[in-house]
Amino acid sequence: MKRPVVELVGTGRCIPRNVLTNADLEKMVDTSDEWIRERTGIRERHISTADETLARMGKDACEQVLEETGLDVAEIDSIIVATASPDHLLPSQACDLQATLGATNAAAFDVGAACAGFLYALAVAEGMVVTGQAKHVLVVGAERLSAITDYQDRSTCILFGDGVGATLVRTASNSSRGIISSYLKTDGTLGKLLCRPGGGAVQPPSEEMIEQRTYFLRMEGRQTFKHAVRKMADACEQTLKRAGMTCDDVDVLIPHQANLRIIEATAKHTGIPMEKAFVNIDRYGNTSAASIPIALDECVREGRVKEGSNVLMVAFGGGFTWGSMLVRW
Ligand SMILES: CC(C)(COP(=O)(O)OP(=O)(O)OC[C@H]1O[C@@H](n2cnc3c(N)ncnc32)[C@H](O)[C@@H]1OP(=O)(O)O)[C@@H](O)C(=O)NCCC(=O)NCCS
Repeated sequence: MKRPVVELVGTGRCIPRNVLTNADLEKMVDTSDEWIRERTGIRERHISTADETLARMGKDACEQVLEETGLDVAEIDSIIVATASPDHLLPSQACDLQATLGATNAAAFDVGAACAGFLYALAVAEGMVVTGQAKHVLVVGAERLSAITDYQDRSTCILFGDGVGATLVRTASNSSRGIISSYLKTDGTLGKLLCRPGGGAVQPPSEEMIEQRTYFLRMEGRQTFKHAVRKMADACEQTLKRAGMTCDDVDVLIPHQANLRIIEATAKHTGIPMEKAFVNIDRYGNTSAASIPIALDECVREGRVKEGSNVLMVAFGGGFTWGSMLVRW
């Protein structure tokens, strides 16, 4: 096992107040509570209001991290936000958050790796700490997927929700805590299976874009499902191998919450019993880059992740991007 040099410390989350239940969706599209629960495990998701911006929710989550770590906001050297649904296309979400939080000494930027974004951002933060570029990095997963979800498309609108989660990355306080290993991977040739065709430079906003609803997320669900299962299991295996550890060493599995059936298959293929897998998809749906940090915060606050726990995080999403990280808490 590699000696950890960089640790994750402190967690926070912010969940919008409004809840969209499966019963609510039954009134919007041709679906049923039973279908959604059986196929996805989702019962409800939270949807932000106009004033619940990612900058505001991010501030809330980050302040919880600051409170827990005892750090002053001026001590933050960098803020990295993983998001696919920023408040604005320019400046980045991290810049908005830096201003709202008042983190005047922080360099701020976004990481775009969809649902795997939080793990990618953690890896970037690890590198910044190791090279001395930053001492304290706030890493945030933040999504308002409701803004880019097509509520006329029953195959996607039942899945997504909003929320923010955060943690801090810094030099490990002792050699037994922190990031043990990680693994990141991408296959850009499969990008079209989960994408937003319109709204970018190739198809700038136009009447056609609005009419054809190409601004919204589109997903080939069945194909994405197949890749997700295979790649999440492979990422877990690679990360454990890099650490010289096995599935038996994992205390808590925190998978990206895309679909309960994907979580169950990932746990099974990795050899980790479901009792060790954390699930909150029933309450939040898929919050993309925010799903792992929200789950991590719940695990820590509920005492499921405690000092010394080996936590295996794994995610898969648009790109396709996927990855895994093993951390000793
Ligand atoms: C989206 C997802 C839940 C769909 O479940 P599925 O079991 O694959 O269902 P399918 O897409 O094969 O559709 C089965 C049928 O249900 C229908 N259906 C789709 N959405 C429905 C809904 N909300 N309510 C009722 N029926 C629905 C389809 O039209 C299809 O009908 P047909 O057989 O008559 O054509 C699932 O594919 C999934 O979770 N995919 C991956 C998500 C993911 O991992 N994303 C990655 C990160 S974001």
